[in-house]
Amino acid sequence: MQRLDHVFILTGAGISAESGLGTFRDVGGIWAAFDPMTLATPEAFARDPDTVQAFYDARRRNLLAAEPNPAHHALARLEAGLAARGGRLTLVTQNIDDLHERAGHREVLHMHGALLEARCVACEAVTEVRSDLSTADACGACGRTGVLRPNVVWFGEIPFHLDEIEERLMAADLFVAIGTSGAVYPAAGLVGAARRAGIATREINLEPSDTAHLFDAADYGRASETVPRWVEDVLGPDAPSQERSAPPHRTRSSTET
Ligand code: OAD
Repeated sequence: MQRLDHVFILTGAGISAESGLGTFRDVGGIWAAFDPMTLATPEAFARDPDTVQAFYDARRRNLLAAEPNPAHHALARLEAGLAARGGRLTLVTQNIDDLHERAGHREVLHMHGALLEARCVACEAVTEVRSDLSTADACGACGRTGVLRPNVVWFGEIPFHLDEIEERLMAADLFVAIGTSGAVYPAAGLVGAARRAGIATREINLEPSDTAHLFDAADYGRASETVPRWVEDVLGPDAPSQERSAPPHRTRSSTET
């Protein structure tokens, strides 16, 4: 395989499916059971905050009971393996879970935010949250009540880190999309941007996504099998294949740049 100096990876719900977290658009997916317009928009939150909080509370409880799977662990090995030989991995995720971090990934750009964070709509303070959120809770920074929301990006809101994502993509040798349907923009537009810049593209997914025709290469199957196999190919036979102990990681979900 060609030596890669900078790999850019975009992950979606499919990478966490085998950890027991639901995807959105598959049969039985989250948006098949729930209407996103009543749960994942600023208007829905303004109209009925308790229902929106209850939806995210249930997802947060599921997340806290979940574990990273072999695909998350393989990407953490790839980050460490590329760094050890002077290369770089940019990992951008649409997922609001923290399974990449728990697998030992050091830097993750959460373009759709983080479920384990709350944001104050009054003072913009972002705090960690591991329990249910209620409109009665007070913001730890400004003390006001009724102001905490999950620090996630809702439909109609602008994803986080867009400038940095574009800059990192333009510096990459390879763009890889893993476990995403290619249905939600701007994330779904990254493969087209990569192609226009002459960057090689690869899709790793259960089945061809909506943007499958834009990829130069593809691996189809369960992420827990396809991702470790591809990572071993990139790192080569000398790379350690055991899981590394988790170094300190950085979660980057909010307005931090
Ligand atoms: P989707 O549910 O749209 O797509 C998940 C993709 O993962 C599909 O193409 C599945 O075929 C694939 N998949 C399922 N199981 C898999 C497995 N075991 N291994 C590999 N692939 C598998 O999820 P996303 O593309 O992440 O945004 O959705 C994008 C955004 O839409 C989400 O971030 C969320 C949602 O609305 C917001 O909430 C803002």
